[in-house]
Amino acid sequence: MKIDPLYRDRVRTEYNQLPEIWDKSDRWHQWAKRQIESEMLAIKTEVALDGPGSLVVDVGSAGNFYSFANVHRVDVDLAEKRIAGCPLAVCGNVEALPLQSQVADLTICVGSVLNYASLEEALFELHRVTKVGGTLIFQLELSNASEFIGTPAYAADAAFVSTFYRGEERLWVYSDSYVKRTLATTGLALCRVRYFHLLSSFFLRLTRRPDLAARIALFDWPWAKWRPAGRFADSGIYVCRRDSC
Ligand SMILES: C[S@@+](CC[C@H](N)C(=O)[O-])C[C@H]1O[C@@H](n2cnc3c(N)ncnc32)[C@H](O)[C@@H]1O
Repeated sequence: MKIDPLYRDRVRTEYNQLPEIWDKSDRWHQWAKRQIESEMLAIKTEVALDGPGSLVVDVGSAGNFYSFANVHRVDVDLAEKRIAGCPLAVCGNVEALPLQSQVADLTICVGSVLNYASLEEALFELHRVTKVGGTLIFQLELSNASEFIGTPAYAADAAFVSTFYRGEERLWVYSDSYVKRTLATTGLALCRVRYFHLLSSFFLRLTRRPDLAARIALFDWPWAKWRPAGRFADSGIYVCRRDSC
């Protein structure tokens, strides 16, 4: 699948102009942010990043560093203004990263960055820049979301949809099954997945009110790590290890 360069230009312009990524009054996306933060804290305890040669590569970071403020970190983003203040900033596209192979102990790509890109090309690149034995964490919005029930996008491998993020947003969604099949072709071993916006996604389908639906997300936790939950989740956070060349 190829992303239209005009679409990519529009995404870049939009993000260059956006005042802030995570609007505090937007409960739906604040919940997503909290899930990512919580998984990042878990990763921090699992991955040794204190050696002088350790490197974190955060693709589509927008300059947000979650819990990795004091480690060597390369911030990559399509929108150059978002990373202007970062010590090691690289303007680039996740589908063709301007980085050498096998440089990252930990590669991060969260905050729906992959929803603006071709999943196969992006995962190939994220795999390429991760060291053998290194970890990749990525998050994306899924076509399995109840929001899409009754539309051709529902559970489709890939679909270009209209959803919401600071108003109407057009982006690509992928199915959980397609993510796993694509991962299998890259040589990345899937360690675990955290799904979120499960019941809340269903509630959103019924009410069409994201702020109200987001309140229900609290009740998602019993199913967050249950594999079948991927069939009806709005989003997933995937943690993988690169086992081989
Ligand atoms: C919603 S923000 C998430 C920022 C950050 N990862 C976080 O979680 O706070 C999405 C970011 O992805 C970047 N982006 C979108 N498409 C991209 C692409 N093809 N390659 C690299 N970055 C991209 C945008 O410029 C934007 O900064």
